[in-house]
Amino acid sequence: MRIKISAAALFLMALLFSGCSSKSPWKAEELALIRDSSSIMRVLSVDKLQDSLFLRLNADTLRAEMLLSEEYARLASKMVATVTSPEQDGVGLAAPQVGISRRMVAVQRFDKSSEPFEVYPNIRITDMRGEKLCGPEGCLSIPGRRGEVLRFMEIDIRYSIVDPKTGVRDTCETVRGFTAVIFQHECDHLDGILYTDRLASEP
Ligand code: NI
Repeated sequence: MRIKISAAALFLMALLFSGCSSKSPWKAEELALIRDSSSIMRVLSVDKLQDSLFLRLNADTLRAEMLLSEEYARLASKMVATVTSPEQDGVGLAAPQVGISRRMVAVQRFDKSSEPFEVYPNIRITDMRGEKLCGPEGCLSIPGRRGEVLRFMEIDIRYSIVDPKTGVRDTCETVRGFTAVIFQHECDHLDGILYTDRLASEP
């Protein structure tokens, strides 16, 4: 069977397919935030209604094509620049806090010798066990407040590792102590939970 297609139809199809192949896996509003020329991102605050609603969303998974995009690398470095900026001076930051509703956190690894900030995409806590301790917490999205929260001292995390040469794969790790507390706080953000939902007591 032969199909006759006019030149105009061919041109339209070419336009359609070129549009599809160049379409970014990121949403337009995410691209605007990621491609913005500033290295520091605005941190959402519960003091603003729109921000507080956004912080309550369940964050979406990052697909492999997103993790391998230059936008992912740019977002990761912007999140670290934001949490380490003198203005914020935090120990952890979740992507929803900078307006990106994706499962991605930046955490300062106090359990490693140089205490680096590291970024974990598609992170999930797969187990929490052992002792629970009460400790003070604050949040960059909840200015001027602190509170005591009970957290597990040992957790297992699962997340994606991004290697431009070999691709994306998942890995697991056990984290203990204060760093485990940071992971629990940041992973809560990905489920729309704030530490104030878990307060044991307030000073
Ligand atoms: Ni927080």
